[in-house]
Amino acid sequence: MRRKVIFVCVSVFPLLLGAGAPAKTVGFSQIGFENSWRTAETESIRAAAAERGIKLAFSDAQGKQENQIKAIRSFIAQKVDGIILAPIVETGWEPVLREVRKAKIPLVLVDRGIKVSDPSLYATLIASDFVFEGSEAAKWLAKKMNGKGTIVELQGIPGAAPAIDRKKGFEEILKKYPKMAIIKSQTGNFNRTDGKQVMEAFLKAEGRNINALFAHNDAMALGAIQAIEEAGMKPGIDILIVSIDGMKEAFEAMIAGKLNCTVECNPLLGQLVVNAIERAMAGEKLSKWIKQNDGVFPKETAVSAIGTRKY
Ligand code: AHR
Repeated sequence: MRRKVIFVCVSVFPLLLGAGAPAKTVGFSQIGFENSWRTAETESIRAAAAERGIKLAFSDAQGKQENQIKAIRSFIAQKVDGIILAPIVETGWEPVLREVRKAKIPLVLVDRGIKVSDPSLYATLIASDFVFEGSEAAKWLAKKMNGKGTIVELQGIPGAAPAIDRKKGFEEILKKYPKMAIIKSQTGNFNRTDGKQVMEAFLKAEGRNINALFAHNDAMALGAIQAIEEAGMKPGIDILIVSIDGMKEAFEAMIAGKLNCTVECNPLLGQLVVNAIERAMAGEKLSKWIKQNDGVFPKETAVSAIGTRKY
């Protein structure tokens, strides 16, 4: 009988403690809503925070670094317990991150890396390997084009880690194929509207001289598909298309024969991000890069894989 009483006390004690602990507040500075990949990421982080009873102070920077910096300063003023930052570009963060550190607020980077002289300014980065993604896109294309042909490139937001690294990875592989050349390259800002407009300009300048398109994300590839169709050509046949993200819409385009390959970049990082910020708030030291493993999906895999796509 005595033993039973002790057991009940031990098992209820942590619950009582938890009930008394105040909920943590975490600020989340998001880039904006430039495409549905980013919406999926935002929703994933919101859901994971709600599940763990964390209050999320959300700030949409509408595509501007200055708004992200303002949001971080306002999080400091609010004395939040932690900060999650999806940085639009790689540079220009050092002064504000020093302020964050001075306020002793742990900060976790999500989906894009930054360049700082002192890596202790952030707890960890949770993101894919963008160089790998770019090089996988190039390997797939080189095989498909038998090592020769002309390519146009739709780049991401200038200065953003995925734009810089995907280009780098792609070009590193291309060095092995001297008969493959990028004949036009311009930013489409990671969105469908700009992707379409820039592809229209590429088509006007080069017409049927274009053999392939490398788009730094699916949203721009989907815009470009529209431009190619409106120019009276067949996307996926007249112009081979490889892009990055692995969105459900990209799988639908592959099934329709309009896109040839997508390299995955998973936006569903909520659980990992919330886990990391909780550990950082508890004073744990984390590894500097919690890397995501991504797959390559040529169109032949689309029918069997589409049912498993969650974004
Ligand atoms: O940082 C990840 C990239 O940002 C995704 O590829 C893209 O769709 C998003 O805008």
